[in-house]
Amino acid sequence: MDNDKVQCVILAAGQGTRMKSDKPKVLHPIVGKPMVQYAIEAAHSIGSRRPIVVIGHGAEQVKQTIGDRVEYVLQSPQRGTGHALLEARAQIDPASEAVLVLYGDTPFIGAETLQRLLIAHRDAHAALSLITFTPVDPALYGRIVRDAHGRVVDIVEYKEATPEQRAIREVNSGIFCYQTPWLLDHLDKLQPRAGHGEYYLTDLVSIAAQEQAITATCSCDEAEVLGINDRVQLAAAERLMRETINTRHMLNGVTLIDPANAYIEASVTIGPDSIIYPGSHIKGRTAIGRECTIGPNTIIENSQIGDRVEIVASMIEGATIEDDVDIGPFSHMRKGAHLGIGVHIGNFAEVKDSTLGTGTKQGHFSYLGNATIGANVNIGAGTITCNYDGQHKHSTTIGDNTFIGSDTMLVAPVTIGHNAKTGAGSVVTHDVADHEVVYGVPARVKRQE
Ligand code: UD1
Ligand code: CA
Repeated sequence: MDNDKVQCVILAAGQGTRMKSDKPKVLHPIVGKPMVQYAIEAAHSIGSRRPIVVIGHGAEQVKQTIGDRVEYVLQSPQRGTGHALLEARAQIDPASEAVLVLYGDTPFIGAETLQRLLIAHRDAHAALSLITFTPVDPALYGRIVRDAHGRVVDIVEYKEATPEQRAIREVNSGIFCYQTPWLLDHLDKLQPRAGHGEYYLTDLVSIAAQEQAITATCSCDEAEVLGINDRVQLAAAERLMRETINTRHMLNGVTLIDPANAYIEASVTIGPDSIIYPGSHIKGRTAIGRECTIGPNTIIENSQIGDRVEIVASMIEGATIEDDVDIGPFSHMRKGAHLGIGVHIGNFAEVKDSTLGTGTKQGHFSYLGNATIGANVNIGAGTITCNYDGQHKHSTTIGDNTFIGSDTMLVAPVTIGHNAKTGAGSVVTHDVADHEVVYGVPARVKRQE
């Protein structure tokens, strides 16, 4: 079976009552990514057709978050997993060979296991196939009932199970594969449950058994099919996913001083011999080079970091940091900060939309915004680019080798030349030429150097 003949359907319409949240369950993030995204990626990774995602609770929000990489079916009201697939029925191409159902709250499923299920399904010529597992604590999962020959004859939800059935340790992962024509023929045989009126997708198993249709199963590790229903399971999932990501970095040559305290999102890359100290959060599209030292207590988001960079207890977002830079403690590099090779940033420094040339130093208590700073410039303690006049942002330009004295206010727009100097406490309101020394409030020329 070619996987391009497999139609994935991801069930993601449920309310997720046990989360006790206004946010749809499937949008709760695990290591920075909405839960449902993992199932979508699993579908893409086996090369199946464009997945169909069944949405309902918080449908608009889910759509906005996921975008147009998938097709949507609206299930409203939500009357159970069986009803969800019934609603998707019209979108299922009868010419597809198989329908693979994934749950939006089962994020760890990997391509290899899905591939095993598809192979088992094909090899057995099964009408339906499913992944079962045997967890340490079968908890509330649906119990797999087998007959004397070991054939699966039913799935019984925990709340409806007899004490004997509750004692069964093999449970339903929720991941099913159906032969398309068989599914389309049998979906409307599902009946709502008395009392609450929910349609259980799992009932197709007993329907298949009654017809003597072939049901194939394959099993996998508990960790791969963990269902997330409440915040305790969400935290467990977060921990597991983090472990997977962190292990990959360690095997790639990154030292994590305390892996349980390194928060690295899946999209991040880190070069070998870099060391990540505890309390570091590295997120989004961030790339970190080789031999860097990050943390403790550092947040880096959507930033490019070169080689041999050291960042202590600081926040870096949307910044580009070249090789051999050191930052911190307690500094904030914001969007559009671009630090050239060997720049030194000390404590309580903020940089936004500014470029600092090679070897420039900004040691203490200082703000640079909308500035272009040359090489080997010294930014004195307390220097501020006064870039905002209440309505507009203005820019500041400083040439190479210039010395900005402590507590200088650079009232933008303003340009300071090369090899110039400002005295401590200057308020610079006019341009300063190359080699000029200015001082005072407002600053005036003292001499040429
Ligand atoms: C389900 C299974 C259970 C299995 C477990 C595995 C059923 C009846 N039970 O139980 O046997 O062990 O998953 O994790 O299938 N959904 C919809 N529309 C609905 C209801 C649910 O799209 O009307 C979606 C949810 O968003 C969720 C998934 O289906 O992603 C599973 O629903 P959930 O209510 O979490 O089922 P469980 O009680 O965990
Ligand atoms: Ca669930």
